[in-house]
Amino acid sequence: MPEVKQSILSSLNKRLDLVKPGAIRAFDNEISSIPDILKLTLGEPDFNVPDHIKQAAIDSINNDDSHYAASNGKIELRQAAANFLKDRYDLDYDAQEEIIATVGATEAIYTVLTSILNEGDKVLLPTPIFPLYIPITIIDGAEPVFMDTSANGFVLSPEMLKAAIEEHGDKIKAIVLNFPSNPTGVTYTAEEVQALADVLRDTNIIVISDEIYSELTYDAKHASMAKYLPEQTILLNGVSKSHAMTGYRIGFLAAPAPLVARLGLIHQFTITTATNSAMVAATEALSTAAGKQDTLDMKAEYQKRRDYVYDQMTQLGFTVPKPNGAFYIFAKIPAELSQDDVAFARDLAYKNKLALIPGSAFGPGGEGYVRISYAASMTTLQEAMKRLGEYIEESAQA
Ligand SMILES: Cc1ncc(COP(=O)(O)O)c(C=O)c1O
Repeated sequence: MPEVKQSILSSLNKRLDLVKPGAIRAFDNEISSIPDILKLTLGEPDFNVPDHIKQAAIDSINNDDSHYAASNGKIELRQAAANFLKDRYDLDYDAQEEIIATVGATEAIYTVLTSILNEGDKVLLPTPIFPLYIPITIIDGAEPVFMDTSANGFVLSPEMLKAAIEEHGDKIKAIVLNFPSNPTGVTYTAEEVQALADVLRDTNIIVISDEIYSELTYDAKHASMAKYLPEQTILLNGVSKSHAMTGYRIGFLAAPAPLVARLGLIHQFTITTATNSAMVAATEALSTAAGKQDTLDMKAEYQKRRDYVYDQMTQLGFTVPKPNGAFYIFAKIPAELSQDDVAFARDLAYKNKLALIPGSAFGPGGEGYVRISYAASMTTLQEAMKRLGEYIEESAQA
């Protein structure tokens, strides 16, 4: 392997020195070498992509659909996304001017933050939160500002938001909201969304509303921030979670046309356009009755698993905020066990071969918690709860 000069290595983008590799992946890599480890670590559906969606991708390839699409994505997909947002959440977006198809919600996050941030800007992040927003904010020269929501059932209150605005003032360029939430599974009611919108309306703060789990709500219909504050909201969504299509890498963003015109530049300079066959598959997922039913079928399964894991964890002595969306449970470690969540998760992984993610990977307020992804088969979850029960019993005896 050729050796790279130290003088070259030390001359790379300095901001990369400020970010750490993703803590979830790092922990997952660490425990993956443990023999027979059972992992409930990664946030991805265990279902296969439905056959009619696969067929759409295959047809696209066989039809020689192999040339560059429009940079903002195939118009059929953008139209399907616009219709989906209208049908499910009563939102009005113009497919041509107000939607960009992205390479997963991940690229949408990168595109949005990179398009809007200037050096020294601040980005409000209610925590615990999906960590990806943090390194991108830092690489863009801006500063994440954390608002710990753990004392309020993991929901950002208007009072907390007002306090942050008072403290950080005009430096705040954006707030990221993610509900239903990864990692807590908690979501916001329409009233809660509206109350935050009412605070934000009088500011210049852009709302990046990551609603990638919007189709997976169990107790009430999802309420989108874009319904209450469309003029300041950049909405993110996609098919990764709703249709178990994580590997296809298709997401989308929706925002008023003048914002989309700017976002489209970074999108174009970064990826040109998403992959044709994946865009055709996502169009099938979003625009057909079968695609709508796929999500309902998966959701029914997730709900059974959520109920099972919630009951088991509660019985084992964990305190669990009511998870009413996504496919995560965020559980407070029982008081008699180690409250160092990293030590707890590591010990559980090595001794009883069950891997969960330490809550502190999701920022302030996550300490002392673990995240369980229940996007796994019922048999796997039953075995996981058995191992967790044994660990607790053995720890109590130790
Ligand atoms: C809140 C949230 N946003 C975005 C993503 C990334 O989604 P995608 O796979 O579509 O890039 C994830 C994936 O776990 C997520 O949990």
